[in-house]
Amino acid sequence: MASIRSIISSRLSHSISKVIPGLRTKAIVNPEHQANWHYSSPSAIQIFNQNKKKSGVLPDSLDSCHKIATEISADLMNDNNVFEKVELAQLGRGPSEKSPFFMNFFLKTSCIEEVIKKTIAEEVSFSTEPSKILIDFSSPNIAKNMHVGHLRSTIIGDSISRVLEFTGNDVQRINHIGDWGTQFGMLITHLDSAFPNYLDEVPSIDDLQSFYQEAKRKFDQDPKFQERARRAVVNLQKGEQKEISAWKVICKISKVQYDNIYKRLDIKIKDVGESFYNDMIPSIISDLERKKIIVESDGCKCIFVKNDEIPLIIRKSDGGYTYDSTDLAAINYRFNQLGVDKIIYLTDIGQRDHFTKIFKAAHMSGIYDPKVQTATHLGLGLMRGDDGGKIKSRSGESVKLNELLDEATFRAKEILLERQNLPNTHNDLEKVDINDIAEKIAMNSIKYFDLKQSRASSYKFSYDRMLDTKGNTGVYITYMYARICSIIRRCYPKDSNLEDSVSRIREEFLLSPSLLSLQTPEEISLCLAIARFYESIEDTLIDYQLSKICDNLYNISVKFAEFYQTNKVLNHENQTSRLIILLAAKLTMERQMELLGMKSIENI
Ligand code: ARG
Repeated sequence: MASIRSIISSRLSHSISKVIPGLRTKAIVNPEHQANWHYSSPSAIQIFNQNKKKSGVLPDSLDSCHKIATEISADLMNDNNVFEKVELAQLGRGPSEKSPFFMNFFLKTSCIEEVIKKTIAEEVSFSTEPSKILIDFSSPNIAKNMHVGHLRSTIIGDSISRVLEFTGNDVQRINHIGDWGTQFGMLITHLDSAFPNYLDEVPSIDDLQSFYQEAKRKFDQDPKFQERARRAVVNLQKGEQKEISAWKVICKISKVQYDNIYKRLDIKIKDVGESFYNDMIPSIISDLERKKIIVESDGCKCIFVKNDEIPLIIRKSDGGYTYDSTDLAAINYRFNQLGVDKIIYLTDIGQRDHFTKIFKAAHMSGIYDPKVQTATHLGLGLMRGDDGGKIKSRSGESVKLNELLDEATFRAKEILLERQNLPNTHNDLEKVDINDIAEKIAMNSIKYFDLKQSRASSYKFSYDRMLDTKGNTGVYITYMYARICSIIRRCYPKDSNLEDSVSRIREEFLLSPSLLSLQTPEEISLCLAIARFYESIEDTLIDYQLSKICDNLYNISVKFAEFYQTNKVLNHENQTSRLIILLAAKLTMERQMELLGMKSIENI
């Protein structure tokens, strides 16, 4: 469904072209959250300032911003079902013919009601021109710990995938696991000596990181070990059975560990690791050598891109391939074999230069055509501990991801138990599995806390701020949603079943839409917040900042809380209309939580 903002903006464009024929301009419309008008536009100011000195653009009668704004507003008000009124707001106190004017829009309640109706009828949908999009996210490295950087990429990548799927795109979620490279020589050799019967029995290595460090220590100290490791790499690259089996064992142990994290976070992603592209590299190299794009430098095969002194290294002097070679092969495979239109990469912001070079090199090589395809790298800021350093565990060490999730769940459970003991809270905790709810609230809160941040900025992780029941947090939102569900559930006392109540309200309303009638300012504010969901999606599709969806979700929660303080629902004469509003709020929040990868909990 189109947003109210886009409806206003197309009407505004239409009126502008009627008032000033031939003018090419983009109408600007901004939502207003503080004042009593609903949207505003600086378009008249922009049009006047840009064209007052040009001859022949503005009609002679339109010699001030005030006159332009007056004419456009009059045209907007003609025979319309959107605006209650359009007011001009002067900037400054000078004479009106010299002052800039904003146009402030007040919507008809029927226009807001129409959006609520569509929201319920179409179950909060939104569609765009579909594209084939590949998202490369999460991508941890085998035998190294998945760290908080990967957690951000996982949470944000999953949510972007959800938004793109929701809007009708064909999305491939790809885990570009670091599962190849010379480090496997020492890992295989160490596995062979530490667990000689690894083929019959998968060794239980809880801490692959220490296994990695141990292998590295031996490699650095023992020349015989070093020699064996080198041979192992050569054999692995040749595809020798023994080394391939050992490599698979190591990958498997790693995968079990991070699949556990994906399961807890409900992440769906397909593993297509670096090893998958290995065989494609030689032919790309010979092709690029023919095209004279690859040059030799210090025995390495390199690609120099414009405005950058440091080249991509496509083949090292010892013949080995690199992270760069794999990414070049991967971008080629994705655009030219999978035939995707768009690739989005999510990693820490430190890899920005790497991707800039890969995109330029792919363009130079004819692999990627920016005119018809898009490759985007979204760089992520760091997640830091409270003191600005690394996030620490209780014992003061660098925290492992699983421990971080465990700690959040432990604290969420404490909050639940505390609330259970509060007098006058009618919660139904005895009916639900508290461990399950605690885990869901914890995952919701971790995700929300991350997604509401601006993507490229670093932020300080804090359990207390993340789990604050009264702040802009996943916990607060989860509770508000559950409260809406509990009001809806109780509206028909006999059934007291949420699903039945929902379908009953929905059916009655769709049969007679006049049952919805917005009366109080709190009702209108809540409905406007709901209607702005569509704008948050339009914005997210442009810059992939999920904070837009978080802001809107939080805003709906806050407007609901304000509404509920003064607007009684059950047994009030406006009960039906208010239940319809709550149903729209429920459906929208449910959709938003789904897009953010959060679980909506109906019963807490
Ligand atoms: N494994 C890499 C890391 O941990 C991230 C890979 C990102 N994707 C890519 N196509 N390079 O930093």
